[in-house]
Amino acid sequence: MRLRLSKQFSFVLNGEAVTVTCPPAYTLLEVLRHVLHLTGTKDGCSSGDCGACTVLLDGRPVHSCLTLISQVEGRNVVTVEGIGENVPKCYAEEGAVQCGYCIPGFVVTTAAFLEENPSPTEDEIRDALRGNLCRCTGYVKIVNAVKKAAGGIG
Ligand code: FES
Ligand code: FES
Repeated sequence: MRLRLSKQFSFVLNGEAVTVTCPPAYTLLEVLRHVLHLTGTKDGCSSGDCGACTVLLDGRPVHSCLTLISQVEGRNVVTVEGIGENVPKCYAEEGAVQCGYCIPGFVVTTAAFLEENPSPTEDEIRDALRGNLCRCTGYVKIVNAVKKAAGGIG
């Protein structure tokens, strides 16, 4: 029988201190969705290939499906629920959301990217989003949403 001893882990989540009790082998994605029931962050592949699970860890985008909860101890996590209104609003206004499953990951990646590069070119936007996959769209509306969020449209 595999022993799964639980431990306590504390970190800051969307500006609030949280402590969870779970096995150290849990990923941040498992903790967010199944321990904290914060389901905005999606599980698209569980293997680092799709970007649906992207969150910010100390301000940098990471795949929460590949991040162990033990790596998060004492650090700062921001999920799509804590990312602010501008980027999600621009995705909605540009019609970039179809089934929507990939969108939380795109929104988090976009917010982090625009923080570093507030006036990006289209090539820079496409490069920044290359780790996020969407099965529904041709990416045109997604790119337009990022331009709008950057103040590039309208
Ligand atoms: S669920 Fe993490 S990259 Fe796909
Ligand atoms: S909107 Fe459906 S996967 Fe992107």
